[in-house]
Amino acid sequence: MEGDGQHPAPTAPPDRPHGERLQLLLRRSREAKNCAYCPYSRFPVGAALLTAGGEIFSGCNVENACYSLGVCAERTAIQKAISEGHTSFRAMAITRSSADVPPAPLTVRPNSVPFSSGSDMGDHFITPCGACRQVMREFGTDWDIYLTKADGTYIVKRLEELLPLSFGPEDLKKV
Ligand code: THU
Repeated sequence: MEGDGQHPAPTAPPDRPHGERLQLLLRRSREAKNCAYCPYSRFPVGAALLTAGGEIFSGCNVENACYSLGVCAERTAIQKAISEGHTSFRAMAITRSSADVPPAPLTVRPNSVPFSSGSDMGDHFITPCGACRQVMREFGTDWDIYLTKADGTYIVKRLEELLPLSFGPEDLKKV
């Protein structure tokens, strides 16, 4: 791998949260989505970020009438942590809404199957958007992202897996 421009294969860290700490992280991300401001998408998302020092910062998505200014839950959590002086992270948990949010109106596009935004995702793990993956990556590739389903089950991915061959601060120093 070395010298071919790729990042090394991800390895599971010894400090991966477990037990009560992990349950707390997952719970904080579930709670955070209750504060989501998402009148346009009606797709509440919560995130909880665990710092190297063991603190948890949560965040929700915050939308705007000027749609493009909306911010995802993951970036809200990261901005909260950074602005409180934390730059080293161990894990983030992400949670989407359950069926308690009224579904967006069903839309049928010509020549396509019907879809609705948000509430038909119940059986899928939420995954962070590309912009959030890049913002996470700014703070390293060797930390864990817990992707949950509405029923509370989760899978865990290394950031390196979610954003392979990424560009980060170190790359700016390469000639
Ligand atoms: N959203 C998040 O906050 N995090 C994700 O991982 C996916 C999407 C938000 C952005 C927007 O407010 C709404 O969900 C619909 O895309």
